[in-house]
Formats: sequence, C-alpha cells, structure tokens
Amino acid sequence: MSKILIVYASRHGTTEKAARTLQEELPEAVTCNLKKEGCPDLENFDRIIIGGSIHAGRIQKEIRNFCQRNLVLLLTKEIALFICCMYDGQKAEEQFNRAFPEELRQAARARAIFGGELSFEKMNSLERFVIKKFIGVKESVSRFRPEEIVEFARKLRD
Ligand SMILES: Cc1cc2nc3c(=O)[nH]c(=O)nc-3n(C[C@H](O)[C@H](O)[C@H](O)COP(=O)(O)O)c2cc1C
Repeated sequence: MSKILIVYASRHGTTEKAARTLQEELPEAVTCNLKKEGCPDLENFDRIIIGGSIHAGRIQKEIRNFCQRNLVLLLTKEIALFICCMYDGQKAEEQFNRAFPEELRQAARARAIFGGELSFEKMNSLERFVIKKFIGVKESVSRFRPEEIVEFARKLRD
C-alpha cells in the first residue's frame, strides 16, 4: 500500500479539520502540522497532500517555504493540493494559483478549494477589525464544504 503524508498549516482550525477528515478517508495517511512540528522524511512517502489557508490573499509562509525547499523531491511524488478560504469562483482560483508553485500545480493529481470559516471567537482584535472593515462580515459564518474533501480523497484512492 502506498504511503501518504498530509502536510498542512492552519490558523484557526479549518485546514486542520480538513486534514483530519482527509485522514479519516485515507486511514493509512500520516499528518504533519507544519506550524507545530517538523516534517517526517519525505523519501518515506509515495503521495504527499499539501494544504493551507488564505489570509490577506496568501497561503501560510510555512507552506510556501515547504513547497520551495522541497520542490525537486515533491515533483518525484504523487502530489495533491488544497486550500481553505472564504472567497469562491475566480478569486479563489487566483488565490490557489498564487499559493502553490506552477510546477506543483501542473503535476498535481488532485486539487481542491474546500471553502472556509470565519469564527469571530477565535480571532484576535486586529483580525476582527480587518474582517468587519474590509470583508464586511460581522458574524461568524461557515462556507466550509467537507463533502468536497470526501470527493478529493476518493480521487486519490482510485
Ligand atoms: C484576518 C483574516 C484574513 C483573511 N483573508 C482572506 C483572504 O484574503 N481570502 C480568503 O478567501 N479568505 C480569507 N480569510 C478567510 C480564511 O481563509 C478562513 O477563515 C479559513 O477558514 C481559515 O482557515 P484556517 O483556520 O485553517 O487558517 C481571512 C480570514 C482572516 C481571519
């Protein structure tokens, strides 16, 4: 059976939820939260799923650095990419394209945008201010789509 690694970064827990759902769907997978732990040796895995969330238009720097630092090795593996974010449509696509290097995007077997959540109780005061003023959202809201995670995992199982 091929070995799967899920590498992710999350600020308020949405991407972490996505990573956990993926692991439930792919029980043999190992997860690595780049904000909390070092990554296991990539050589030990055949498939690597990379995911993060978008803040002010960008994915976490841990994910950007991970992709840049390991680009050559990652291109020898089967890759899948996802983001969590509030925008959808064209804007979400642009954020996805900006989040990952072109070579990885082209090589990816699966790619997905799972939506996002805005949880005011998890935000600091600056985040609350930014969300209210620039996005115009005043209450917690979820546009997270876990059903798309199941579909994403299915593509990787086949
Ligand atoms: C301060 C802040 C800035 C954000 N900026 C964006 C953004 O530029 N584009 C977007 O689509 N979503 C944006 N979001 C929404 C997040 O992507 C969403 O909350 C996501 O669920 C976060 O996932 P995480 O908890 O795994 O970090 C922002 C959220 C916060 C709190």
